[in-house]
Amino acid sequence: MTPHTSEFRALRVYKTEQGMERRVEQLPADEPGELTDGAVRIAVEYSSLNYKDALSAHGAPGVTKVYPHTPGIDAAGEVTASSDKRFAVGDGVVVTGFDLGMNTAGGFGESITVPGDWVQHRPPGLSARDAMILGTAGFTAALSLMAVESGGTGPEDGPLAVSGASGGVGSLSVALADEAGWRVTAGSGKTSAAYSLIQVGAAEVVSREELSDGVKKPLLPARFAAAIDTVGGDTLAALCKSLLPRGVVSACGMVGGTDVPVSVFPFILRGVSIQGVDSQSYPAESRAAVWQRLAQSGATRRLEEAGLVTEISLDELEPYFDHILDGRVCGRVVVRVLGSADLED
Ligand SMILES: NC(=O)c1ccc[n+]([C@@H]2O[C@H](COP(=O)([O-])OP(=O)(O)OC[C@H]3O[C@@H](n4cnc5c(N)ncnc54)[C@H](OP(=O)(O)O)[C@@H]3O)[C@@H](O)[C@H]2O)c1
Repeated sequence: MTPHTSEFRALRVYKTEQGMERRVEQLPADEPGELTDGAVRIAVEYSSLNYKDALSAHGAPGVTKVYPHTPGIDAAGEVTASSDKRFAVGDGVVVTGFDLGMNTAGGFGESITVPGDWVQHRPPGLSARDAMILGTAGFTAALSLMAVESGGTGPEDGPLAVSGASGGVGSLSVALADEAGWRVTAGSGKTSAAYSLIQVGAAEVVSREELSDGVKKPLLPARFAAAIDTVGGDTLAALCKSLLPRGVVSACGMVGGTDVPVSVFPFILRGVSIQGVDSQSYPAESRAAVWQRLAQSGATRRLEEAGLVTEISLDELEPYFDHILDGRVCGRVVVRVLGSADLED
């Protein structure tokens, strides 16, 4: 890898009177200025596409308030300058969450400058590309699985359901849960993804409608010991109502809605619980263990073999913002950042 020494390329989003405009352009090498105390500058080899990036690219004020802006909540690459003694030039690192890509210039640029507390060394053997197949989605999938397991339920108690299973968090959750010994029921709106989800690790694939069927009832037949919900809304409500006694569902997403129509019955008649998952502000000091677990898993290989990894360059990102907002992305989209212009020439 040859880190840039002069200008660097970034996908910039502008808010104009005509609406949001996006273009790849050159920025000065020292953007966003001098390296402040404790900051680390990173040459970004790979980033990845997440739902939140599309919201930022479309001007969602809950994600990004100040434009022009470079989205990208994930980044992996090498340290090019550091004023944090934990990091040296040439270290292989990964950054996910915190304010990256929200109101701090993110991974859709060849260079980022972030506080050292946001940066993790990549575990040995985890390439920048693999780290971005995982990214925030993989980190969230790992936290979701840890959340249901710490809630006191395990594979011996019954099957585990994953909603939005063909998405980033969903597909990686299927892989990690199968690896951990769970019998996984994958719920997906895409019939075309069923074979890939079986390859990734699902024991069965059911339709999106089947997972939330009968959601208006106070309780549904108890069939899952645990669930990883990436959808929210009716799906999360139906999963709460479908858990076996003392079952646990983790909740991380809202693509299917923010209101969850569930009464107290599943909680007081079956003792089930919901565990919320927040990967963005997960404590820095606990992140290395999660990355270690992810690096040791075969999740990235499973997704690659199932055809659920799409690699694109910065210049190819534009249509994918709409694809992910429309729920049309299957698996993970990794974005080749540093040198992607050279590769296209
Ligand atoms: N809390 C956190 O820390 C955290 C971290 C990462 C992501 N998230 C959130 O988790 C969610 C999933 O993220 P992601 O990166 O996996 O996104 P993604 O790749 O777009 O996957 C979302 C999946 O949900 C399903 N879906 C889409 N629209 C739907 C709808 N209207 N109703 C029901 N299902 C729908 C689709 O899967 P199928 O077609 O297979 O059903 C889609 O592929 C997002 O809301 C994201 O903001 C939260």
